[in-house]
Amino acid sequence: MRIFAISDVHADYPQNMALIQALSGREHQRDTLLLAGDVTDDLARLSRVLRGLREKFAHVFFVPGNHELWLRRDEQGDSVAKFGKIMRLCTDLGVATNPARVGSGSDEPGAWVVPLFSWYVKPEQGPESLYVPREGDDPGLSMWADEVLTRWPERLSVADHFLDMNEPHLGREYDAPVVSFSHFLPRREVMFRSPAAPPPRAGRAVRFNFSRVAGSTRIEAQLRALGSVVHVHGHQHRNRDRVIDGVRYVSNCLGYPPERARGEIGESCGSLKLVWDNGSKAG
Ligand SMILES: [Fe+2]
Ligand SMILES: [Fe+2]
Repeated sequence: MRIFAISDVHADYPQNMALIQALSGREHQRDTLLLAGDVTDDLARLSRVLRGLREKFAHVFFVPGNHELWLRRDEQGDSVAKFGKIMRLCTDLGVATNPARVGSGSDEPGAWVVPLFSWYVKPEQGPESLYVPREGDDPGLSMWADEVLTRWPERLSVADHFLDMNEPHLGREYDAPVVSFSHFLPRREVMFRSPAAPPPRAGRAVRFNFSRVAGSTRIEAQLRALGSVVHVHGHQHRNRDRVIDGVRYVSNCLGYPPERARGEIGESCGSLKLVWDNGSKAG
């Protein structure tokens, strides 16, 4: 039993949709896929991607990213209502959004896959923010589309709203290793290539500081409460694979075609990443 992961497939780009559709329908019939958010904000297109992947994999697990919760094309309601629609779509298509044990045949120990819903905490919203100060950044997030394209009920703490949904899963006994995944980042270190990497340089012009919208330390607290041995996340469009304090953190995105062309994404760019193989930590 193998578990593969990919995030940020951004299927609105025809090249990305083609890459997803080109995945082998034979090779993965016994495998599990973790799809860690940012497929598209278009529900019809999301349905097409999920349906196609369900035909290729034994199990598909999904958590929405920020792009799924964008409201466009005169969509009514708010982003919480859209999340509900996505959950119903997943149920209809047999895509898992709750914890489930996979590969627990007589010859395999199997693993528990635990999807963690999440959102980011901005620096002004609380100490769980992953914000790293950087000279010349833009506190108003004028370049960040979520500011315009998501809509929330008044006074909703968005990150808590989603992270609270995971709480019932934390106190459970898991009788096999836990592989968890989220769209957003669980800790600051995973933003950077290595602990020795220099801090990002300040640009002369106002530059976007991704750490304002990267994730939440509450995701880290939740994956530690679960006892995860592997945690997959998306959102940052930079691929990493690193063990920190006994947990393997993996990000493996498809990203935007121009990012791939510029070589910005890094290792295993454009392909699925094996994160678990029959009880051994693949890597
Ligand atoms: Fe993305
Ligand atoms: Fe994202």
